[in-house]
Amino acid sequence: MAAKLTHRLLCAAAFTALAATASAADLAKGREKADQVCAACHGKDGNTPIDPTYPKLAGQSADYLFQALLDYKSEARKNAIMGGQAKPLSRREMEDVAAYYASLPGQLNYKPR
Ligand code: HEC
Repeated sequence: MAAKLTHRLLCAAAFTALAATASAADLAKGREKADQVCAACHGKDGNTPIDPTYPKLAGQSADYLFQALLDYKSEARKNAIMGGQAKPLSRREMEDVAAYYASLPGQLNYKPR
């Protein structure tokens, strides 16, 4: 009985670890892509875009950033500039770069006074 329970717990733990590994975004890879490509317009820190109409990305939630990139790629969200940026990105690259910008200190949060 105890052995069976131990086995179940081990299986659950192994499965959880596996699932986490499979879905964990790679921040280092995200940073590489961001520095090479995105920083030119969104700023190296994700907070200093080259034009005030270009959005800040730092601290934005990863799921929002990821969805935006998917939508630019599929043209569900149409923008000539970002469409061109998102087209060559794989799903994995989008996940990594979204997680990277989400991990940076942002200026987007509303702070009640
Ligand atoms: C040539 C300039 C340029 C480059 C390079 C660029 N972007 Fe953008 N990005 C923009 C502009 C302009 C917008 C606003 C487009 C719009 O209004 O939908 C934008 C919007 C976005 C948004 C939507 C943000 C929001 O608040 O809705 C995301 C996410 C994004 N960019 C990610 C990236 C990533 C990741 C890269 C690098 C792979 C990148 N961008 C490279 C100019 C650029």
